Amino acid sequence: MTKEISTLTPFAEDVMEGLMSENKHLPSKYFYDAKGDSLFQQIMHLDEYYLTRKELEIFETHKAAILEAINGDNEPLRIIELGAGDGLKTKVLLKYFLSQGVDFIYTPVDISGNVLEILEQNLTAEIPGLKIETYEGDYFDALKGISERPEKDIVFFLGSNVGNFSREEAEKFLSDLQKFLKAGDLLFMGVDLKKDPAIILNAYNDSQGVTREFNLNLLDRINTEMGANFDRDQFLHYPYYNPHTGECRSYLISKSEQEITFEEESVVLRAWEAIFMEISKKYDRKQLEQLAKASGFCPVQSFLDSDNWFADVLWQKEK
Ligand code: AVI
Repeated sequence: MTKEISTLTPFAEDVMEGLMSENKHLPSKYFYDAKGDSLFQQIMHLDEYYLTRKELEIFETHKAAILEAINGDNEPLRIIELGAGDGLKTKVLLKYFLSQGVDFIYTPVDISGNVLEILEQNLTAEIPGLKIETYEGDYFDALKGISERPEKDIVFFLGSNVGNFSREEAEKFLSDLQKFLKAGDLLFMGVDLKKDPAIILNAYNDSQGVTREFNLNLLDRINTEMGANFDRDQFLHYPYYNPHTGECRSYLISKSEQEITFEEESVVLRAWEAIFMEISKKYDRKQLEQLAKASGFCPVQSFLDSDNWFADVLWQKEK
């Protein structure tokens, strides 16, 4: 008997919708179970995955200028970080802000309570005096109430997380985010920039195969959580960068015909049929300005690494 669609978890619903589409796709937000979190940690330490290193360089090099741009008026601040992760990069800024006597509360937001607990323990041990109030849940739920607060809010959205949206999705997300802010509130966002395509492609096709595992892990997750029968050895990991659109797209391609059964349904993957897994979009500076404008922000300042590979942009909600 076919299960009523309403009895499915959101995860199972999204998976089924994606696999039953003409162009098969799976949402990359589901990469991050416990195994996926740990694979992403490994990715961030790979030489080929330059993004983390470059953003860290920006924070270390420009922390004084970043603070001046964010808080030249020395007002009390609330820093809300969407998708805080392990806080490795953010803590460079937090430590510096505290050393400069800035009065701020740090609110990391994540859907994983476990991630937040570890983060809070680490940060309070490493940065004595840090005021931290974690928020477990949805990004936009965390932003509710901002407009009533007296202090200036700044939202951190780092690590090129915005790149996991298409251009249209990014504009929608940022416009929605902007509506929660007060005039004058700020967004500080990490964005990966267009560069030599070979460098970008290598970042998503690393020589140790960690990114391949990261993608295949979602098939393992579907097998475990939905009783499916994906044969991971029958998939080719195929990332592809389009320098025109700035989109690096990852696919898993089935090398042979396979019948996948899950949740009492089945789907046939034809030989060489692809499942679109993830978009990691790269911008140039002009496109970023357009995105700011289209989503209701004014660009204030950009901070770049020494190779101009990565940018952290500071945008302000239009007054
Ligand atoms: C989380 N996100 C910004 C990463 C990216 O670069 O798109 C996820 C990732 N996918 C493969 N490697 C890293």
